[in-house]
Amino acid sequence: MDAITKDLSSLYYRLLCPRVVTIVVSLRLDGKPNAMVAAWHTPVSVNPPIVAIAIAPSRFTHNLIQNSGEFTINIPDMALVDKVEMAGYNSGASMDKSTLFKYAPSRMLKTPIIEDAIGVIECKLNRMLEMGDHSLIFGNVVGVSSKGFGEVWRTSTPMLHLGTNFFTELKK
Ligand SMILES: Cc1cc2nc3c(=O)[nH]c(=O)nc-3n(C[C@H](O)[C@H](O)[C@H](O)COP(=O)(O)O)c2cc1C
Repeated sequence: MDAITKDLSSLYYRLLCPRVVTIVVSLRLDGKPNAMVAAWHTPVSVNPPIVAIAIAPSRFTHNLIQNSGEFTINIPDMALVDKVEMAGYNSGASMDKSTLFKYAPSRMLKTPIIEDAIGVIECKLNRMLEMGDHSLIFGNVVGVSSKGFGEVWRTSTPMLHLGTNFFTELKK
């Protein structure tokens, strides 16, 4: 194994890829949804169910979650790749992303979910922890839905992020 002595910042997290791509939806002040892509996420606690996402304070989403106190984590299918790229490379601060996806009401929150998502986690903000150039945003999981639990990976093709602008998918 070769020791990596340069570019630790841009290389260390590549060793933790691939990661399931998610779309974090939050509510704008005008009540419309905003969608951003987040690949840095992790389950934190089973009981009570808590999940964390690492969101940079520069993201429009960061303030929206702080204001509304809630967000939904939506897992897109590979079929949504073009829209995912739009949401992941454009900020809601300068682009209206409220019509990018088809949205549907969530079960427990005011924040909607993405209708075509293959899985959805509804979260109420627990706390935010500033950490380096991101904030770790903890969410209490208050709702979960999925297109066929257990079977979801058989019938759908979740997007897997390899870092920068590289994606892959599961082989059957
Ligand atoms: C595949 C992919 C994964 C990303 N993962 C994250 C992430 O985990 N955390 C983050 O802060 N930004 C992440 N981004 C960048 C944001 O999605 C991007 O800056 C987006 O434009 C922010 O939108 P907003 O300003 O409307 O919130 C990712 C982008 C892509 C394409």
